[in-house]
Amino acid sequence: MASHVETVRVAPPADLLKGQTALVTGANSGIGKGTALALGRAGADVVVNYVSDREAAEQVVDEITSYGVRAVACEADVSQESQVAAMIDRTVREFGTLDILVANAGMQRDAKVTDMTLAQWQKVLDVNLTGQFLCAREAVKEFRRRGVVPEVSRAAGKIICMSSVHQLIPWAGHVNYATSKGGVQMMMQTLAQELAPEKIRVNAVAPGAIRTPINRSAWETASAREDLLRLIPYDRIGDPEDIAHAVVLLASDLMDYVVGTTLYVDGGMTLFPGFATGG
Ligand code: BGC
Repeated sequence: MASHVETVRVAPPADLLKGQTALVTGANSGIGKGTALALGRAGADVVVNYVSDREAAEQVVDEITSYGVRAVACEADVSQESQVAAMIDRTVREFGTLDILVANAGMQRDAKVTDMTLAQWQKVLDVNLTGQFLCAREAVKEFRRRGVVPEVSRAAGKIICMSSVHQLIPWAGHVNYATSKGGVQMMMQTLAQELAPEKIRVNAVAPGAIRTPINRSAWETASAREDLLRLIPYDRIGDPEDIAHAVVLLASDLMDYVVGTTLYVDGGMTLFPGFATGG
């Protein structure tokens, strides 16, 4: 079985998001980092949010600025209302406005239900769900203040929520995480419905198994990889770029009529691969 084979790399057009400012939460590592880099490559200026590990965030900033666009690192805990408001303020101060929010920051604190503490439950809901709500709410205020600028984009603003295949697939031992992503789905759809008349587009990307620090134990050893690949019809583990490119497209006017959709980027994980031979 093929594992991870380096192959031809593709990249978004360098002027696709030219003149737009994007904010990516949790952009110092994993999917957030890959997304921040891809948005920069597509011509956007980027705010690289992090909550800890300033050095990693600064490295992402350096790489993005090497593409000839602007970037800043911005510390904020997305679950804290005042920090989120300060982050949006800073974005507007530095870059004039905000065009694209990628509500990406997320975490896992796994435990079987009777071992799960209230703190583990609460923390994951606070960051993964409340954090996306707070960032979306503050971004919408800025989108509304500025409105549509036709030379920049047909929309008044774009929000891309980072969900997961686990907004659909129940996940034993991860009730806090799966519940948070189920919540992200309904939050995204409700905001999309509420905000579409103002030309604010809200969508989500639902990644499957992407090779990042959050799921290291699922791909690090050969036997874990084998188990994981059994769940992925396309027979490879995803890379952050796979998600990043979906986000860049959803943020662009190429997808201007896409409103309230979840784009699953999962190598077919949500196709119930067990039924390829069973049932
Ligand atoms: C989780 C990963 C997991 C993947 C597929 C993601 O949302 O964060 O840990 O590997 O879903 O199950």
